[in-house]
Amino acid sequence: MMMTKTLLGAACLSVFALTVHAEEGAKLIIDGEELTIRANAPAHAENIDEVSSGWIYRSKETQALQLDDFDNPAFVFVDQAIDEWDKVDGSEGKACSSCHENVEDFAGLRPTLPRVDDGKLVSMENLVNECRTERMGAEPWKWSKGKMTSMTALIGVQSRGMPVNVAIDGDAAPFWDKGKELYYTRVGQLDMACSNCHEDNYDTMIRADHLSQGQINGFPTYRLKNAKLNSSHARFKGCMSNIRAEPYKEGGPEFQALELYLASRGQGLSVETPSVRN
Ligand code: HEC
Ligand code: HEC
Repeated sequence: MMMTKTLLGAACLSVFALTVHAEEGAKLIIDGEELTIRANAPAHAENIDEVSSGWIYRSKETQALQLDDFDNPAFVFVDQAIDEWDKVDGSEGKACSSCHENVEDFAGLRPTLPRVDDGKLVSMENLVNECRTERMGAEPWKWSKGKMTSMTALIGVQSRGMPVNVAIDGDAAPFWDKGKELYYTRVGQLDMACSNCHEDNYDTMIRADHLSQGQINGFPTYRLKNAKLNSSHARFKGCMSNIRAEPYKEGGPEFQALELYLASRGQGLSVETPSVRN
């Protein structure tokens, strides 16, 4: 007993028990289209050679749910967003469809977010809420609640298969630097950084979970664990709580900077939204 405790306390790395290797050959093909699940790492992801989708590390059963949109439970929520799209809300008497003719016109948006607009880093959630508050006279949606995650899934899936491609230079550079710093900063009672798990130890088992690189190309993602769509910020929050750290705020500057940095680490992977995870 004592020894287990000491080991865990002294070196959290003892939780990375077993090295398993993700199956090399598995392919993610949806509707006849093959998505890019491995790519050469971009130069700015200095410590890894290859970037890989979280899909690779899931069980065969979980992987299978993402291969067919009829099996993918996330599409129940995408359908709800299609209904929401035409719903009038707010003091201006408008629906999304009053101004945006087709949701398909958002193809190409997901891979470029977050981005800097007028000196501010904006995520898709900000763009949606800007329309709600500024253009519809409606209440903003909560960052990780159902209406928002359903809508960001609907808008995101229009770009499925397109390579992630966020801007990290120019006025995005200070946000990216901040995100990178957060990624490598040890926090919480376990004194761990994102990098300790998702860069140093991916493709190993941590308890019952097969560690991935913590990529965000599949967000919002349907999790079997809570049977709903999850925003990337909700996932960051969960990982911070797991290492007994005080999580930053969803939609706050820290998570937005992390979102930009993580998106840039997935440069070249396909947008998989809405993905399925455990
Ligand atoms: C009154 C008109 C109006 C309504 C209603 C409206 N929008 Fe917009 N929306 C705009 C305008 C104008 C822009 C900015 C110009 C642009 O980029 O197309 C915009 C931009 C956006 C963008 C960013 C597009 C980009 O390429 O940067 C998203 C996403 C978006 N709207 C989603 C929605 C959603 C979802 C709803 C409904 C909840 C909605 N909008 C309702 C007018 C509207
Ligand atoms: C103690 C190890 C650990 C640390 C530290 C950690 N995570 Fe995770 N994370 C996990 C595990 C386990 C999972 C679930 C399996 C997987 O996808 O890797 C996960 C999943 C994720 C996912 C979902 C990936 C996908 O494909 O769905 C993201 C994104 C993520 N983490 C981001 C972060 C960020 C950002 C940090 C730092 C704030 C962080 N994690 C810190 C263990 C960790």
